[in-house]
Amino acid sequence: MSDLMRVPCAFQGGKQRVAAQIADLLIEAAPGPYSQFYDLCCGSGAISIELVNRGVDPSRICMLDISSWGAFWSAIGSGKFNMDAFDKFLSELPADKRDLKIHMSSLATLPLFEYEAELYPILQACSFGGKQIWRKGKSWANACFRDYWEPTATSVRRSPANPMQPSPIELRRRVTALVNGMKGVTCFKTDIMTTLSDPLPNDAVVYVDPPYKSTTGYAFGFDVRSFIDRFRAVNQAPLFVSEGVPLNSKAELLNFGGAKGGISGIRKGKHQEWIARF
Ligand SMILES: C[S@@+](CC[C@H](N)C(=O)[O-])C[C@H]1O[C@@H](n2cnc3c(N)ncnc32)[C@H](O)[C@@H]1O
Repeated sequence: MSDLMRVPCAFQGGKQRVAAQIADLLIEAAPGPYSQFYDLCCGSGAISIELVNRGVDPSRICMLDISSWGAFWSAIGSGKFNMDAFDKFLSELPADKRDLKIHMSSLATLPLFEYEAELYPILQACSFGGKQIWRKGKSWANACFRDYWEPTATSVRRSPANPMQPSPIELRRRVTALVNGMKGVTCFKTDIMTTLSDPLPNDAVVYVDPPYKSTTGYAFGFDVRSFIDRFRAVNQAPLFVSEGVPLNSKAELLNFGGAKGGISGIRKGKHQEWIARF
């Protein structure tokens, strides 16, 4: 197994499959060896992780997310992630995968917010379709969990589907690697609009990955066009924005196969990833 860090778990809109191409663009745009990278709407952290895997020092990375990902990355970056609490949640998971869904559903109703950063990646790893789970009042919202599924005699899929992906052991391995490798990043759990009150350093490179216009199921959002306009009014730094459609005439289509490039072979209706520079 490679010792490169990976995102804790799948997440709706997560950029792990195109992170290498996005990191290429950000590194290319960085004006100097000490430029700061801003990963706004960082979610599961695919872009920041890719930058650190490439050798960027975590102290040069500023992440931001209004959701519990913001709490997770703040704890990781500041070195305050409580491994004992995380291990306790993992140790309480039922041994029989058939019982996991009911266990997670009851966990999600408890007001366990002292350990938001430690519980959240476990909830999210069990989320149906990787959909975003978020804190609402004293419990968690959108908390729909997967069932353990076994193939029947007639089903096409021949292997069981696990209710937690990755497995508890692999999640722990990934999180341990992040605790060690991502320490030093700064992360704000706040609204992206707060970044507009003061200019960012001129040698910054900024990446924004908003919830895409056509996607549902996110708790939070903002007006991307208005953010871009207001950002450009106060900042000199290059700004890159992801979307499922081209946001300007110079936008690049990313390729899930790896390399950046042309639009050949793209079927109509297939999910697309574009990145636009402003
Ligand atoms: C497409 S996902 C980002 C995925 C991320 N790049 C990854 O690789 O996992 C969008 C993220 O934007 C965050 N978000 C939505 N509205 C926000 C706002 N107003 N301020 C800050 N973050 C916001 C959501 O919590 C979500 O994590």
